[in-house]
Amino acid sequence: MGRPNPIDMAKYVSARRAVDYVQDGMRVGLGTGSTAAWMVRCLGELVREDGLRVTGVPTSSRTADLARHCGVPITTLEDAKWLDLTIDGADEVDDDLNLIKGGGGALLQEKIVATASDMMVVIADPAKRVETLGAFPLPVEVIPFGWQTTKALIEESLIGQDIGGRAVTLRLAQDAPFRTDEGNMILDLHLRRIGSARQLALLLNQIPGVVENGLFLDIADVVVTGRQDGTVEVRDINHGTTTDERVDLRDDDNLFAGVTD
Ligand code: 5RP
Repeated sequence: MGRPNPIDMAKYVSARRAVDYVQDGMRVGLGTGSTAAWMVRCLGELVREDGLRVTGVPTSSRTADLARHCGVPITTLEDAKWLDLTIDGADEVDDDLNLIKGGGGALLQEKIVATASDMMVVIADPAKRVETLGAFPLPVEVIPFGWQTTKALIEESLIGQDIGGRAVTLRLAQDAPFRTDEGNMILDLHLRRIGSARQLALLLNQIPGVVENGLFLDIADVVVTGRQDGTVEVRDINHGTTTDERVDLRDDDNLFAGVTD
C-alpha cells in the first residue's frame, strides 16, 4: 500500500501530530471532515495498539460512525458535559487563529463542542491558511421554517458591511437542500473578504432563523499545519510560539488501506 496523495499526506501528518495532545483518560471532541477523519483513525490506532484510554465526543453522525469503526469509545456532550480537548479541521485559518468552518455542514455541533473544551487544536493543510477570512463561502445554519425570509434578512444585513461580496446561496445536496444533523439548512455567504469578522458574527446571530454562523473567533488555541513532506508547523496562540517539526510517521500501511474519504 503506497502513501496517500500530497494533500491527504499533509492532512494526515497534521492529524498525526495533533493526537500528541491527547493524554490518557481525556475527553476529546472529535471534529468532522476529511482532516478530522485522519485524526479519528490515528486516535483509533492509539486506542487499539497502545491501550490509550480516551472518550470521544463526535461532532456529527459521520464522525460517530467512523469513531465506532476505528474503535474509539464515544459518548455524547450531554454525558461528558465538559471536554479536555477538541481536535477539528477548518476551511480557513487566519494569523490570529480565527477560522471559517462548516464546509462539511457540521458547524453547529463543532462550535458547541469546541467551546465546551479547555483547548481546541485545529488541523489543516497549507491551503487553509489565509491572511484575511472570506474567500471560502461563510456557512450559516438556518432553520427550515421561513428560510427564504431569513435569507432575505441576511442579504439586507450585509449591506454596508466591510465585505467584498454579498451573494447568498442555499447549499444543495443532490439537487435537494442539504440538511444538517439537526435537520437545518445551510446558507453559504460568498463574501470574498471579511473586514470585521467579529461584527459580522454578532450581526448574523441576531437574525431570527439563524442558528449559528461558521466564524470561530477566539476559540482555537493551536493550529497544526501539515505539509506533504512530513513536516508540520505548530502555532500556539497562548504561548506565542511557532515551531517547525518533523512528524514521526509510524508504519502506516494499515491506516492508509481502504481509505476513501
Ligand atoms: C466541517 C468542517 C470541516 O472541518 C472543514 O470543512 C474542513 O474539512 P476538510 O478537513 O475536509 O478540508 O468545518 O463542518
